[in-house]
Amino acid sequence: MPSETYKKYLKEVLVTEEDLKRRVAELGRQISSDYAGEELLMVCVLRGGVMFLTDLMRELTIPHMIDFMALSSYGVGRRESSGTVRITMDLNMDIYGRNVLIVEDIVDSGYTMCSLLEVLETRHPKSLKICTLLDKAARREVDIKLDYVGFDIEDKFVFGYGLDLDEFYRDLPFVGVVDLDVYSPKE
Ligand code: IMP
Ligand code: MG
Repeated sequence: MPSETYKKYLKEVLVTEEDLKRRVAELGRQISSDYAGEELLMVCVLRGGVMFLTDLMRELTIPHMIDFMALSSYGVGRRESSGTVRITMDLNMDIYGRNVLIVEDIVDSGYTMCSLLEVLETRHPKSLKICTLLDKAARREVDIKLDYVGFDIEDKFVFGYGLDLDEFYRDLPFVGVVDLDVYSPKE
């Protein structure tokens, strides 16, 4: 049972637990069919992508491995990506010649994903694709192709199901909109 202290920050539930389960299962089926006969390495972007990754893995019917990476933007708050992203924790595995699928919680401006793609491409994977749970397309500043998207969402600050509010509430089973009258995101 999640702690109930999240309730004061919650404006509304945007994606319910039921919708998440259904969509993650659909994505799992689609990915399994797209990569049929192949092996997959899922690269999870820490920490927001963790819930999505672990649920998605259980919906795959193809052999797959997982690895983790952590990234941070230089000198900016989470709402304003600068376009320069630093790897704070790199992969353990060599991705050379492998089918790599990046698993991310949300794509906002797109800068994080764009620089991650650049870095991973230099390592020559066999293929490189992106799977994001949420897509805030209205805030996109760089053109980027998202191969798998769970949900298109409006420009609202959200939390839960991996996404945090000052590192808390990642465990919530739904995605909620933050009440900005009560909580102001740290810049
Ligand atoms: P981008 O580089 O602007 O695309 O930023 C992507 C990162 O910003 C995501 O990986 C999240 O960590 C963070 N982010 C963007 N929007 C939200 C949100 O609504 N809630 C929580 N984190 C967010
Ligand atoms: Mg993230």
